[in-house]
Amino acid sequence: MHTSTDVFAKARDHDRAELLAAAREADILPYFHVLTSPAMPIVEMEGAERIMLGSNNYLGLTGDERVMQGAEDALHRFGTGLTGSRLLNGTIPLHLELEREIAEWMGTEDAIVFTTGHQANIGTLGTLLGPQDTVIADSGDHASILDGCLLSRAKLRPFRHNRLDKLEKMLQRAQDDGGGILVVVDGVFSMEGDIASLSEICDLCERYGARLMVDEAHGAGVLGARGAGTAELLGVADRVDLRTGTFSKSLASCGGFVAGSAEVIEYLRLYSRAFLFTASAVPAAVGAALAALRVLRSPDGPPLLERVLANARQLRDGLEERGFAVVSAQALALDAHVQEHAPGLLPGTGSDPRQQTIVTPIVPVLVGDDWKAALLWRALYDAGVFVNTALHPAVPPGGALLRTSVMATHDEATLARALDVFATVKHEFESEHGPLPGPHGHASPA
Ligand SMILES: Cc1ncc(COP(=O)(O)O)c(C=O)c1O
Repeated sequence: MHTSTDVFAKARDHDRAELLAAAREADILPYFHVLTSPAMPIVEMEGAERIMLGSNNYLGLTGDERVMQGAEDALHRFGTGLTGSRLLNGTIPLHLELEREIAEWMGTEDAIVFTTGHQANIGTLGTLLGPQDTVIADSGDHASILDGCLLSRAKLRPFRHNRLDKLEKMLQRAQDDGGGILVVVDGVFSMEGDIASLSEICDLCERYGARLMVDEAHGAGVLGARGAGTAELLGVADRVDLRTGTFSKSLASCGGFVAGSAEVIEYLRLYSRAFLFTASAVPAAVGAALAALRVLRSPDGPPLLERVLANARQLRDGLEERGFAVVSAQALALDAHVQEHAPGLLPGTGSDPRQQTIVTPIVPVLVGDDWKAALLWRALYDAGVFVNTALHPAVPPGGALLRTSVMATHDEATLARALDVFATVKHEFESEHGPLPGPHGHASPA
C-alpha cells in the first residue's frame, strides 16, 4: 500500500481554479482568445475586427515586406527547421550575421543569439551566477529573470520596484555575502511601462563593485536615437555590463540575445545550458529578426521610433483626458553627456533636454479589482478593442490593470477611434459597476 499523494492533484485543485471557472461562466476570461489575421494595428479575432492595443509589435514590422522577405528567403534557403543545437548542427550564417550586427548595434564586443528571450535570461543568469554569489533584482523584473536567479541558486536579494534606496541597502548587505554581486533590472518594465533609473543604478553598482545586467526586451527597438534601448536613451550603454533582449517584440520575430564583453559571451557559448541543450530557432525566425534589425538600423528606423513614441503619448494623454488612471509621462534622469547632446537626438522626448519626459509604448490603465478588470476587458473587446489584462499574481493584489500598448503603424485616426471606445465603455461600465480609478489612481466622481 502506498501513502504518497498524487502529484497531479494540484492540477484539479489549484488556487486559480475557482476564479477561472467563475470567469468562464461569466464569459469574461481575457486569455487565450484566438487571432485569425496577421498581428497588425487592426486584427481579426473570433470573427470580428478589433483594434489591437495588446501587442508588443512596437515598430509594426511583423507585416513589413522586407521582414517577411527575410523570413521567406531563410525558409527557402535553409528549410523549415534546424533540428539541433547551435553547438552542433544548428548554426547557419544568418546567426553569425545577426550576432555581429547586434554587437555593432549595442556597441559591445560580442553578442550571442538564443532561441527565445526567456532562454537568454535564464541561460545567462543560471550560468554566470552560482550559489556563492548574490543577485539583486528589482521586484518588477520579468519572470524569466526570477527563473534565472532561482536556477543559479545564488543568494537572491530583491528590492522594491525602482526604489534606489532599497537597492543601495541590498548592495550594502551583499558586501558581507562573500561572493560576486550582480544587479539585474528591466530597462522598461513590462507591466508598468516605466523605465529603470539606469544612470543612478550604474553609479551604485560602481560604488559597491557590482556588475549590472539590463533586460532590454521592451527598450531595444523602442528607445534611444538608434533604438538600442534604455541604456542608450539614458547615455549609459558603456556602463552596463550585459544587455539582454528579445526578437519577439520590436524585432518582429522570436528569439533572444545577450550583448556584452567577448569573454563573457564566449563563456556563455561554452557553458550556457539554455543555449547548448535546446534546438536553434527556425531559419525563418532568424531571417526575420535580421531583416527587422536592418530596417531599424537603416534611415527608415528613426521615423518608426518617433512614431511609436508619439502614438504612446497620444494614447496616454487621451486615456487621461477621458478619466482613466494612467501613468504620468516619466521625467528622464539623463546622463550629463546626453543632456549636453540631447536636442534632436532623442526621438519622442521633446527638444528641451531639461524637461524631457518619456511615455513608453506600454500604457497601463489601473483598474484595481481583478473582477472589474476582467469585466472592463470584456466590454472593450465587445466594442472592438483588444487589450491585455494583468491580474494578481502578475501584479500585486488590488493592482489589476489593463495593459495597453501601441505600434508605430497605428495611425492617429485608429487611436482616436480606440479612445472613443474607451470613453463610451467607461460611461456604460461605471453606471453598472461603479466608479473606476481616476487619473491619479483615485476613484473618479461617479
Ligand atoms: C522583460 C522581458 N524579458 C524577457 C522576455 C522573454 O522574451 P521571449 O518572449 O523572447 O521569451 C519578455 C517577454 O516575454 C519580457 O517582457
